[in-house]
Amino acid sequence: MAKRHLIGLLLATEVDWPAAFEAMIGRVGSVRYGSETHELETERIKNEPFDLRYTPPYSVVIDRLSWWYDLPREWLKKVALMDDVYLLNNPFTFQAMEKHAAYCAMMRLGLKVPATWLIPHKLPPDNPRYVPMAERYNPHFDPAEVGEAIGFPLFMKPFDGGMWVGVSRITSGEELRFAYDNSGERLMHLQESIEDFDVFTRSLSIGPLTKVMRFDPAAHGNYRYVLERGFLSRELEQEVATISRLVNAFFRWEFNSSEVIVKNGQAHPIDYANASPDIALASLHYYFPWAIKSLVAWCAFCAVTGRRMRINQNTRDYFAVGDDNELPYEEKLDRYARLADAYFQTKEFEEFRATALPDLDELLVDYIESPEFDSVLVSSMRAEVEEERQEEMIERSRSAVACWVADERAAAKT
Ligand SMILES: Nc1ncnc2c1ncn2[C@@H]1O[C@H](COP(=O)(O)OP(=O)(O)OP(=O)(O)O)[C@@H](O)[C@H]1O
Ligand SMILES: [Mg+2]
Repeated sequence: MAKRHLIGLLLATEVDWPAAFEAMIGRVGSVRYGSETHELETERIKNEPFDLRYTPPYSVVIDRLSWWYDLPREWLKKVALMDDVYLLNNPFTFQAMEKHAAYCAMMRLGLKVPATWLIPHKLPPDNPRYVPMAERYNPHFDPAEVGEAIGFPLFMKPFDGGMWVGVSRITSGEELRFAYDNSGERLMHLQESIEDFDVFTRSLSIGPLTKVMRFDPAAHGNYRYVLERGFLSRELEQEVATISRLVNAFFRWEFNSSEVIVKNGQAHPIDYANASPDIALASLHYYFPWAIKSLVAWCAFCAVTGRRMRINQNTRDYFAVGDDNELPYEEKLDRYARLADAYFQTKEFEEFRATALPDLDELLVDYIESPEFDSVLVSSMRAEVEEERQEEMIERSRSAVACWVADERAAAKT
């Protein structure tokens, strides 16, 4: 008898990647692993009242919803704590470790995070104790002085930010005072700006797999990921990928994206707490099939091998490396890479892919070329893009995935 594994999807309004993921899981069908056959199935999860003692049917859940909706977030915690459901991502560290915690941890580990300060809220919390507390313990400060210590230009951005909300580039003390006075209740970081950089990168990570892409932050959201190869030396590409994998292994995030700015050969991570990133076709284009393939492979691995959800972090193992002043940066990165490989079971995963999913590459090429996928592509652009740009985006996505298919075919021949 085949073992059945249900992969749950916690979704908002996404159209394309869930359809592609479901289609690919259907095409993979059953998986032979060890001496057993495993059947993989998918289901979109409904947000319903739940008994804390009920037993959920899922082996693995991919979450793209709980970052803004509390009900599924608390449901995820229940299924992790009580039912050993495997989650992309860990809801505990995801909730607790916003951008700020990620900066702190990666600074301690020796990464080249730009200088960053946290400043008190402009509008304090609404609590009757605030005023008497602040009279005693909050000395007056001038944000412009903090700005001078960091140097201009700098970025002011929310400590727990996302989607560029409240992010501004500031060039003088005057501007900073003004921006701070208008920052309201948001707790803000001030961060040294990496100016005149060589390359802006954004990496997408799924399980142990990371794709480093060139990114144009100034472009419209549909055109930010730039299709270009060789924009980094092999060593730098490796370094940027290792940084992403380190962040993920450290926080136990398995579906995340990170931004690293490269300037004069130095890799500066500036934003890497984006667990549950956007992987829509309208954003990723050429890289969309890579994301689907990685999600299918990683979810299949977790479900079929019964990988255990690990809730608690092993921060000490990383700090032991980070705190060792004798170790040069490169050696630290090598050790972090090994810790990340151990966490993600990289070797076992690669073996699984080769033996249990030998046809995945071909299956995906077939699917991407199918009329079924083309209709997903078209309906996704109709749903996500304003009318006057739909035709252009449909053509752009078609040619991007056709280019991906050609590259896969060429790679398969070599
Ligand atoms: N230290 C920095 N140096 C140079 N540019 C920066 C820096 N910090 C932020 N930026 C610019 O501002 C943009 C938004 O900042 P950041 O990524 O930190 O915010 P966010 O709200 O998390 O964005 P998102 O969630 O969309 O990635 C970055 O993509 C980058 O272009
Ligand atoms: Mg960002």
